[in-house]
Amino acid sequence: MSLAISKRLEGKTILITGASSGIGRSTAFEFARTAPKNLKLILTARRVDKLHQIAADIQKEVGDGVQVLPVQLDVSKPDEVREFVGKLPEEFKDIDVLVNNAGLSRGVARAPEIAEEDMNIMFDTNVTGLINMTQAILPIMLRRNNGEGAGDIINLGSIAGREPYVGGSIYCATKAAVKSFTESLRKELISTRIRVIEIDPGQVETEFSIVRYYGDKNKADAVYAGVTPLTPDDIAEIIVFAAGRKENVVIADLLVFPNHQASATIMHRRPT
Ligand SMILES: NC(=O)c1ccc[n+]([C@@H]2O[C@H](COP(=O)([O-])OP(=O)(O)OC[C@H]3O[C@@H](n4cnc5c(N)ncnc54)[C@H](OP(=O)(O)O)[C@@H]3O)[C@@H](O)[C@H]2O)c1
Repeated sequence: MSLAISKRLEGKTILITGASSGIGRSTAFEFARTAPKNLKLILTARRVDKLHQIAADIQKEVGDGVQVLPVQLDVSKPDEVREFVGKLPEEFKDIDVLVNNAGLSRGVARAPEIAEEDMNIMFDTNVTGLINMTQAILPIMLRRNNGEGAGDIINLGSIAGREPYVGGSIYCATKAAVKSFTESLRKELISTRIRVIEIDPGQVETEFSIVRYYGDKNKADAVYAGVTPLTPDDIAEIIVFAAGRKENVVIADLLVFPNHQASATIMHRRPT
C-alpha cells in the first residue's frame, strides 16, 4: 500500500451502506488496511449481527487505530435514514466519505410477470434509499471549508445501468436511475470540493445472485459456471483507490469487467 494514499485517508470518517456482505464488507476491510493508524468506519446494513462480527474481525486484524461503529439501518426506510445522523455518536458525525453500496436485485421475471413487491424493494433500496442517504449526509459535507464543502460520495452503479438486459428490466432501471442521479449531483455540486464518483462493476461473485434467486444457491452458482468473476475485494480496491486520490482528481465514472466479460450479457464461458 502506497504511503500517499494511506496519508490522504488518515483521520477520515467513512460511512458504508450494505457493509454486511460482498463489496461493502470488502470495502470496510480495504479502508481499514489502507489507513490502519487513524480511521473511523461506520458500517450499516440490516443484519447488524454480521456487522458486529466484521467490526471485531477488522479490529483484530488492524488494531485500535481503526474505530468501527456497526449500525443497523434499512436504507429503504426513509424514517430510519432521516433519523440516522442524529443518532450517531458525536465523534462519528463528521462523515468524509459516503459509500452508497446497499443494493439488490430480486428475480429475473419479465413483464407482465414482475412481482410488485420485488419492484418496490428494488426501487426503494437502490434508488430512493441511495438518494435519501445522500441527502442525509450531504449537509455535513457542504458545511466544510466555510461552505465550499469537501467529501466524497461514491455510488455503486452497475453495467446494468448502462446496458439493459432481458430479465433485468427493473434492476437495470434502478441502476440507470443511479447513473442519472449521480451525474446530476456532480453537476449540481460543481462549485464545491465534493467529489461525486460512480463505480460500475460487471460480474462480481457475492451474495448478489443468491438474493436475486431468492436463496436458491444452485441457480446462483450457475451464474458463475465456467467463468472467473470479479471478487468483492477487486471492487473494494477500486473504491478505496478512488477515495484516496489527490483532492483535485475525480474518478467520475468507472466500468469494471472481469476478463471474460465484454458486456452485460456477452461472456466467454469455458466448459465445466
Ligand atoms: N455482484 C455483482 O455482480 C454486482 C455488479 C454490479 C453492481 N453491484 C452492486 O454492488 C452493490 C453491492 O452488492 P454485492 O454484490 O456486494 O451484493 P451482496 O453481497 O448481496 O451485498 C449487498 C449488501 O446490501 C445490503 N442491503 C440490501 N438491502 C438493504 C437495505 N434495504 N438496507 C440496507 N442494506 C441493504 C445487504 O445487507 P443486509 O442484507 O444485511 O441489509 C448487503 O450488505 C449493490 O448496489 C449491487 O447492485 C453488484
